[in-house]
Amino acid sequence: MKKEEVKVYSLDRIKKDIFLLGLKSPYLAKNSFPGQFLHIKIDKQSLVLRRPLSIHKVEKGITYVLFKVRGEGTRFLSGLRKGSTLNIIGPLGKGFDLQFTVYSLQFTVILVGGGIGVAPLLFLAQKFRGRKVWVFLGAKSKEEVLCKKDFQELGCQVFVATEDGSLGFKGKLTSLLKEKLSIINYSPSTKMYACGPVDMLLEISKILREYPQIDCQASFEQFMGCGIGVCRGCVIKTKQGFKRVCKDGPVFNIKEVF
Ligand SMILES: Cc1cc2nc3c(=O)[nH]c(=O)nc-3n(C[C@H](O)[C@H](O)[C@H](O)COP(=O)(O)OP(=O)(O)OC[C@H]3O[C@@H](n4cnc5c(N)ncnc54)[C@H](O)[C@@H]3O)c2cc1C
Ligand code: FES
Repeated sequence: MKKEEVKVYSLDRIKKDIFLLGLKSPYLAKNSFPGQFLHIKIDKQSLVLRRPLSIHKVEKGITYVLFKVRGEGTRFLSGLRKGSTLNIIGPLGKGFDLQFTVYSLQFTVILVGGGIGVAPLLFLAQKFRGRKVWVFLGAKSKEEVLCKKDFQELGCQVFVATEDGSLGFKGKLTSLLKEKLSIINYSPSTKMYACGPVDMLLEISKILREYPQIDCQASFEQFMGCGIGVCRGCVIKTKQGFKRVCKDGPVFNIKEVF
């Protein structure tokens, strides 16, 4: 992890309020791991705290974050110009555990991304290139579905759920996941990775009670202060006590939390 001034390589509007920001930092490109995040200083006097954003992908030496405009900080980022600089601390946090991939080539991977929660999952799919990966994407409507094509280009099989039924399954992403799990041929080496609203993660943990052999790691969001494990402003309750999302996470085994 290091603090550095990083040049904005690109900024593209992907959807109405979704932006893809490319950052030119050889250090980040070399050291980033799926599930980790960047803590970005917003150059505005009114905003003291940095804003955490997951590493979305690394391509040709450029590190990307995919973000949704929510408030002042992300609005500021959406107005950046190519060539401007950002003060960034990263990569931070404990990413997804991919240790098992070293030992087992025969496994299926299931990625579940609700809304902007898809952000850290593309980097993960890049690491699983050439393997069997099912991706579940959820959104309110067709217009809000993110990264479908990017996952397909990596060879993943993509399932989509939209609340209004304008694309794919009509209903909640977790309902689609439940339906598919009951028919797909999963094995004990199936691994699941999820990111999205906490209600979605809770629902996944309930579904997985029927499939105890499926191991699921989930990325959790929390408001952050320091981002480096000092202030304890980001704790969540786990079965082993309170844990810091920034340092002990943001990725936890879902059984640790629910
Ligand atoms: C580890 C981590 C990784 C993240 N990765 C991404 C990412 O890849 N892409 C992305 O778009 N967002 C991501 N987020 C959320 C992102 O940090 C917030 O959207 C951002 O900080 C909002 O800043 P803001 O100044 O625009 O909004 P604010 O003015 O701070 O808040 C605007 C609204 O967003 C809500 N909000 C702000 N921060 C959070 C949060 N951490 N969790 C839940 N609600 C929040 C507030 O309640 C408020 O309603 C991540 C958060 C964490 C903790
Ligand atoms: S944000 Fe300070 S300990 Fe996590």
